[in-house]
Amino acid sequence: MHRLIKRCSELELDEFYVELSELINERKKHVSEYINSEERLKKIFNELPSGTVPSSVDLNSDWIRIGIKKDLNTNQYEQLDRSLRDLHPWRKGPFDIFGIKVDTEWASYMKWNRVKDHIEPLAGKRILDIGSSSGYYMFKMVEQSPEMVLGIEPYLQFYFQYLVLQHFIQASDIFCIPAKLEEMPVLEKYFDTIFCMGILYHRKSPIDTLKQIHDNMRKGGELVLETLVIEGESETALFPQNRYAKMGNVYFIPTVRCLTYWLERAGFGNIRCIDTSPTTLKEQRKTEWIKTESLADFLDPDDPGKTVEGYPAPIRSVLLANVK
Ligand SMILES: C[S@@+](CC[C@H](N)C(=O)[O-])C[C@H]1O[C@@H](n2cnc3c(N)ncnc32)[C@H](O)[C@@H]1O
Repeated sequence: MHRLIKRCSELELDEFYVELSELINERKKHVSEYINSEERLKKIFNELPSGTVPSSVDLNSDWIRIGIKKDLNTNQYEQLDRSLRDLHPWRKGPFDIFGIKVDTEWASYMKWNRVKDHIEPLAGKRILDIGSSSGYYMFKMVEQSPEMVLGIEPYLQFYFQYLVLQHFIQASDIFCIPAKLEEMPVLEKYFDTIFCMGILYHRKSPIDTLKQIHDNMRKGGELVLETLVIEGESETALFPQNRYAKMGNVYFIPTVRCLTYWLERAGFGNIRCIDTSPTTLKEQRKTEWIKTESLADFLDPDDPGKTVEGYPAPIRSVLLANVK
């Protein structure tokens, strides 16, 4: 049984039990069929060193560190190295896993460090992380002792990365469901803090997404919203004709003012922008842990202030807002 379902009562999730367990069981079936259909994945999960407790786990530094090389024998180390490489692309991190330096495409600590000192303390809180990827931010939250953190991550390769990390970290109050936001039942008024980072520009209907998020939060709860923005004071949004920075699934890129109006319409107040930063090659770049293109390939080689399509290069803002 999924750990979250086991702890439903303790976490006061009883009223959502039926819908949650149906979703989790359906996803679990899908995930195990997927793993069983691929020898490569079966091998990865069968060959994870079991009973190996890392001699130390450090979730507080920019690189999340799990154990040291000496905790594993040579066979285990080489096998784990192969397994981790097989789980590419590693987008969000970085991680040092028994001395294997998983230098992810994104230096995710740059975003976390922009956010962490501005948000309400997470101790004792119920938190949702939408699009949790490898779980990097969820693991960073552990040091503050939240009551629970639930991640949702539909892309199985990233979910598998989370499973491998959690296999070693064993963070008891961190959970992840491999599902899309729109597949989740509304856990009405449940969460104290919701992180929606790197999500909104992928939504065809951003205000509906903000409303859905709103309905999952208790009154006064805090939304941490990070998304692509365009500069300017007007209340407009860029809508790319086809692609933005080679991504085919980018819809609306608002100004901060426009984003503020969306948040107001969705029922949020006390809206403030705590950071606006351009995305640099220090934060997003190609490493040996991804095999795809990265930021440098998405920008105009003659004018890095523009994407290859001629749109303004990526800038991201972080906004905080509370449920009214
Ligand atoms: C741009 S990444 C952002 C990751 C992370 N939140 C961050 O800010 O660094 C978007 C993430 O959302 C996930 N995702 C895509 N569609 C989703 C959906 N419908 N519901 C929830 N997550 C989704 C992707 O697989 C990916 O991990």
